[in-house]
Amino acid sequence: MDGLGDVEETGLSEAERETFATDVINGLSGAAKSIPCKWFYDVRGSELFEEITRLDEYYPTRTELSLLDDIADDLGDRLPERAWVIEFGSGSSRKSDLFLDALNDPRGYVPIDVAADYLEAAAGALSERQPHLQVRPIAGDFTEPIDLPADMAEQPKVGFFPGSTIGNFEPPQATRFLAQGRAMLGDGGHMVIGVDLKKDTDRLLAAYDDAQGVTADFNLNLLDRINRELGGEFDRERFRHQVRYDPDEGRIEMHLESVDAQTVRIDGHRFEFRAGETIHTENSYKYAVEDFAGVARAAGWTIDHHWTDAEELFSVHLLAAA
Ligand SMILES: C[S@@+](CC[C@H](N)C(=O)[O-])C[C@H]1O[C@@H](n2cnc3c(N)ncnc32)[C@H](O)[C@@H]1O
Repeated sequence: MDGLGDVEETGLSEAERETFATDVINGLSGAAKSIPCKWFYDVRGSELFEEITRLDEYYPTRTELSLLDDIADDLGDRLPERAWVIEFGSGSSRKSDLFLDALNDPRGYVPIDVAADYLEAAAGALSERQPHLQVRPIAGDFTEPIDLPADMAEQPKVGFFPGSTIGNFEPPQATRFLAQGRAMLGDGGHMVIGVDLKKDTDRLLAAYDDAQGVTADFNLNLLDRINRELGGEFDRERFRHQVRYDPDEGRIEMHLESVDAQTVRIDGHRFEFRAGETIHTENSYKYAVEDFAGVARAAGWTIDHHWTDAEELFSVHLLAAA
């Protein structure tokens, strides 16, 4: 699948803008500044993420795609036929065709993503590629309860959560998300999750700090979005992309580091930055297979099976509600 072409940014609704403003103002007001990573994904952020997935350094996407391809028959045998596929954080839906094709006569596809404009374009493109499928996108935050259409209640449902987006949660939040997913998918439900594995630190750092600077652009785009949507006055030249690996937490952290001491105004609020002070913008937890299984079990799932690639870079877990 190639890119989605020109996707128009229609901006946030008034309610979403208020949530964004609250998250940014609260996040920049504490002693340790941070902003939730879901706000990366305006149209430009979604496009930059898609560009990241095609970089040499970014091993997760190609590894997961190749693993999904390798296990397609096995997945098809293990998952119910005539199921609805509910994808969490579907982005460009680039992996979805492979997944849908692995299943036995899927009934339909429900991509869920917070990036509403990009979701609509991606769902439209998938519908054209898979005209026999019902495609019912839901724009929203997957950490909040989401009601599926009532006609799906008695039909089998399979969750699909690729891309190691689960790694953006702290482990207790990951358990909460998985417990909520289990309730949503019902007693016969399944969930297929891509989880990035612990590995050599240099390889991890390179994946989040590529030579071309696409990930830096992705991180800094958050400041452009705050300027556009919230009337912020960030000068992106005075911040730089910073990536760290915390071995105790087992996570990559992305930050935006203030180059010098400065004051930034956002819609009537003033935020002071010391030189070198950072805004923590993303965590990406890396798991050992057994550690992730523990997180899933704590959420009430049974581990049906897991697969890894030959280099053990990435894992795919099949969870069953029964
Ligand atoms: C790391 S990207 C992964 C995209 C795609 N699934 C893949 O595997 O390449 C995360 C995706 O989840 C979406 N997302 C992030 N936080 C979200 C949230 N709280 N609710 C809904 N979607 C979210 C983003 O818009 C983005 O499309």
